[in-house]
Amino acid sequence: MPKFYITTPIFYPNANLHIGHAYTTTVADILARYHRLNGDKTYFLTGSDENTEKVVRSAKSVGEDTKKYLDDIVSNFKDLFAKLEISYDQFIRTSDEENHYPGVIELWKRIADSGDLEKRSYSGLYCVGHESFITEKDLVDGKCPDHNETPQFLEEENWFFKLSKYTELIKEKIKSGEFRIMPETRRNEILAQLDRGLEDISFSRPANKVSVGIPVPGDPSQKIYVWCDALTNYISALGFGRKDGSLFKEFWPADVQIIGKDILRFHAAIWPAMLLSAGLPLPKTLLVHGFITSGGKKMSKSLGNVIDPMELVEEYGAEAVRYFLARHISPFEDGDITRESFKEAYNANLANGLGNLVSRIMKMAEQNQVKSKKLKVESDNGYDKAISEYDLKTASDLIWQMIAGLDEKIQKDQPFKLIKTDKEKGKAVIGELVSGLSNVAELLAPFMPETAKEIQKLIKENKMPGKPLFPRKD
Ligand code: MSP
Repeated sequence: MPKFYITTPIFYPNANLHIGHAYTTTVADILARYHRLNGDKTYFLTGSDENTEKVVRSAKSVGEDTKKYLDDIVSNFKDLFAKLEISYDQFIRTSDEENHYPGVIELWKRIADSGDLEKRSYSGLYCVGHESFITEKDLVDGKCPDHNETPQFLEEENWFFKLSKYTELIKEKIKSGEFRIMPETRRNEILAQLDRGLEDISFSRPANKVSVGIPVPGDPSQKIYVWCDALTNYISALGFGRKDGSLFKEFWPADVQIIGKDILRFHAAIWPAMLLSAGLPLPKTLLVHGFITSGGKKMSKSLGNVIDPMELVEEYGAEAVRYFLARHISPFEDGDITRESFKEAYNANLANGLGNLVSRIMKMAEQNQVKSKKLKVESDNGYDKAISEYDLKTASDLIWQMIAGLDEKIQKDQPFKLIKTDKEKGKAVIGELVSGLSNVAELLAPFMPETAKEIQKLIKENKMPGKPLFPRKD
């Protein structure tokens, strides 16, 4: 049985998740569900990135104990994921000493054994927002432009990872397709960075300067640095470094790791270098999506344009949110969402589109007692190919083309009239419509699992819905 291992980034629990975070996770969920339905042995990992100063700062700013603060936010993450029908197999928390720490320690030791760690003294500018050192030329008016904060000047001893050593090897693996980066634009972006060369990077910080973090094996005066710790979650969660490494044996390397474009360098350069140094296989594909803006602007509290996925779920239901993210945001480019664009897409394609179609067809089927004959879904309509290329937008467009096709058929054949003049013919047309609807439900299942189930149930019971599947919103 083929296996499929898919991961999302682990989220910083320093605020609740917005629609951009929900996007990554929903795309991963649709792919995981598709593979499960296909019979693949699937493992879907998500989680939270907790050993960071920014979490400690956020907890302090609201006067809370860090652990309680983390537990509360992580429980909000999990509530949102449950509401959004995210079918993850594991939620890894990097503060989990039993499940995460051993993997980090083992990976560190392997990298050290390869001679790729070296203690150096270092001075530079540190941005807490990025959780990394940044350079003078990244600053605008002395501040980090992404976080609008003046970085701290640090002078300290760090363990350095000899990242530069792996530049050529990573380039080769990307070029040969062994480590696939999608889409092409992101592949080119990282190749250009590799052409400019990679610099060695800090992998630890003095223990007395940071409040959280895993102690460096054999050097308790240092703590393992945020990104080295965080990236390791993808294998620590599978039991790497623990006694029972059976999940690791079964599922690593990942089939696809999904990330947003801002963390490309960490995943397309640092992470593969760590794996190469430790003698571990690289993930097969890195899928890099764009950023979701709202009304063309970066979402921010001060602009008041942050879209809260929980609010949308409460107003429109999870299925509608999943629909929008899959079909109205491309996985390969930046996308946009506003409350208005969401409502418009909902009314046009769910209330008037799919929901209306289900009511019309199933009303005719119930009234005329027409059972569906199961037709085979045309296997080459491009749906599977689109999903194999992670193009969820094209795959869902194809479903809506089928929906439009069924609408047209009703228009053209007018079965509601035909049934009065030629009962047999009328019933045959309705039967074909029900079969078409059943195909739609089948393809919808990874995207909108509850709607697919509901349609299949109505077809089985030969009933029209008691109430509209997607009531119109004004
Ligand atoms: N903790 C790190 C990831 C470590 S992975 C080993 C992190 N966390 S994050 O919470 O800031 O971001 C998590 C993911 O959400 C990233 O993939 C990021 O690209 C994505 N997004 C954050 N804002 C986004 C949008 N506005 N739009 C789409 N995705 C966005 O980075």
